[in-house]
Amino acid sequence: MEATMTAVVADDYGQPETLAIRTIPIPEPGPGQIQVRLRAAALNPADVVALSGTMRAVAELDFPHVPGSDFAGTVTKTGPGSGPGVGRFAVGDEVFGMALPRGSAALAAIVSSPPSLTTGTLAEYAVFDADTPAVALRPPALPAEHAAALALVGLTALPLLRQGRFVPGEKVLVIGATGGTGSAVLPLLAETGVHLIATSTPTDEKAMRALGAAEVIDHRATDLLDETLRRYPDGIDALVNLALPGTELPPFARAIRPGGRLLNIAHPSPDPADFDLEHLTVETLFTHAEPGDLDILAAKARPIRYRSPSAAGTSCPTRRGPTPTCETTTPEASGSSTCDTHRVGHGRGRRRGVRPAGRLCRCRAGRYIRYPC
Ligand SMILES: NC(=O)c1ccc[n+]([C@@H]2O[C@H](COP(=O)([O-])OP(=O)(O)OC[C@H]3O[C@@H](n4cnc5c(N)ncnc54)[C@H](OP(=O)(O)O)[C@@H]3O)[C@@H](O)[C@H]2O)c1
Repeated sequence: MEATMTAVVADDYGQPETLAIRTIPIPEPGPGQIQVRLRAAALNPADVVALSGTMRAVAELDFPHVPGSDFAGTVTKTGPGSGPGVGRFAVGDEVFGMALPRGSAALAAIVSSPPSLTTGTLAEYAVFDADTPAVALRPPALPAEHAAALALVGLTALPLLRQGRFVPGEKVLVIGATGGTGSAVLPLLAETGVHLIATSTPTDEKAMRALGAAEVIDHRATDLLDETLRRYPDGIDALVNLALPGTELPPFARAIRPGGRLLNIAHPSPDPADFDLEHLTVETLFTHAEPGDLDILAAKARPIRYRSPSAAGTSCPTRRGPTPTCETTTPEASGSSTCDTHRVGHGRGRRRGVRPAGRLCRCRAGRYIRYPC
């Protein structure tokens, strides 16, 4: 096997524009690790935030740094000796999941036990710890490019669902429903039988309803709090926040009935001291993998057709179920049909699926990155 590979590389903290595609050594697995030939990878907001350096206290990066946590690929090597967890996988196995950069061990310990760490998934090869519930065998029915975008958002949605204790008929508002995490949360919530209200512009309304929303509120055209109160003067049962900073949430307590719940994943977390906790439960949840969770998510994934707002007539296959779209818009990319090896910043809205090696393309339709390109 060749000794070098192509990868997306950062030499220092900074913005996505500083990323370059370079040839670097293929990482070799140590004891308890597997090497994977990546078939697809996906970006999440956390990848870009980690690169910016604002999470340095808990997510120190080693440079050169290869970004990317979500992945799907084929096991190409196992580490020397048996090592913990390596027996789960053999060369040739198709795997998927998520893992954090090696400097993020403290953060990774929150996500799973044992933690899931990697050399970075925007590369032809990456090394992963084998003994973690955040990496699993990919079932043949789940395409690699869909599996690659499933793990982080799905493993964020499951704790929300478990902690929310939703019951049929409850009125649940999801703020940020159109994002990657929303595309995992919505179908899982709909499955519980709740009455689902999703924030969405008209462009995404059809997709939101396909994912299980009973109604939508256009968060750009209306005042979300006023509109929620107008529709539900007695209050909704639960609010799930996937978008607003926690500091903006206290006014929304008025829209939640006494005894209701506010569940949050966005940063910064809301301060419970800002709420009347006799009448409201306020919780912030984090991405978390229990053994078997990835199998549950893989089994629930269903294909849908999704039309990206900026795709100028191009549609892309994605899945109904806890999987985000596989194509995305990006504000900075426009007017070029050439491959652009530097612009991989996180745009608003959806996660982007990319080929691991130098295939980050902008399309002439504008504001659009396509997988595979
Ligand atoms: N706690 C955790 O462990 C954890 C795990 C995963 C993600 N997160 C965080 O959760 C957030 C969402 O993640 P994601 O992957 O879903 O991000 P994303 O794909 O970028 O989606 C964010 C969505 O929020 C929507 N949005 C933005 N402002 C809004 C507003 N004022 N009202 C309603 N919707 C609004 C956007 O829609 P429009 O562009 O159409 O407005 C977009 O679709 C991020 O902040 C991420 O860092 C936390």
